[in-house]
Amino acid sequence: ENIAIAIDGPAASGKSTVAKTLAKRLGLIMVNTGAMYRAVAWATIQKDVDPADSEAVIKMLGEVEFSCGVSDNLSTILVDGVDPGDALRQDAVNQRVSKVAAIPEVRELLVQRQRDYLQLGSVVMEGRDIGSVVFPDTPFKIYIDASEEVRRQRRAAEGIVDELGKRDEEDSKRKTAPLVVAEGAVKIDSSELSIEQVIERVLEILKE
Ligand code: CDP
Repeated sequence: ENIAIAIDGPAASGKSTVAKTLAKRLGLIMVNTGAMYRAVAWATIQKDVDPADSEAVIKMLGEVEFSCGVSDNLSTILVDGVDPGDALRQDAVNQRVSKVAAIPEVRELLVQRQRDYLQLGSVVMEGRDIGSVVFPDTPFKIYIDASEEVRRQRRAAEGIVDELGKRDEEDSKRKTAPLVVAEGAVKIDSSELSIEQVIERVLEILKE
């Protein structure tokens, strides 16, 4: 029986690094669901679709092929056969992603793809709604938080322009699958912890 470890939290809380390290150590597939929402946002740029026009975005979903896979135990996503690569972290994508992620049809499609990963093996999946929506029944749920100040510093250290506050607000306010601490999730505040300390804490929680 394949298992899912759900790792949720706000932008730049450190959840991607933690999820990646954890998956590697446990030999599991790491699924980055943010990259899937980013791929849809990136596609709206390629196709010149207004991300706030949900009908146009839904139409685009029927015309563009998003194929999800795994390479080196990490999830991958191709848009009409093209790997957007680092373009997924562009400021233009940051500005659009919360808008497309608020569209229920976008979430329905991607949540299905996310659940499909479990057929390939056990996963560490990171995002915003993994413990609340994608795998509500998994006993393994972690919520990683950090103060806004620390998160802003971490993102700045990556050299990326990202209006975190704005994105967090949009992600928390939306009607469909807003960012919440899922029922049964254990919360870790990573503000004053190193990645290694967070991993240790997660491993303790998973043993319990
Ligand atoms: O790296 P960072 O934490 O800043 O963002 P991300 O995990 O790549 O997610 C980018 C955006 O995708 C978020 O701001 C959300 O709008 C959306 N997202 C979501 O709605 N649900 C998820 N499970 C994952 C991401």
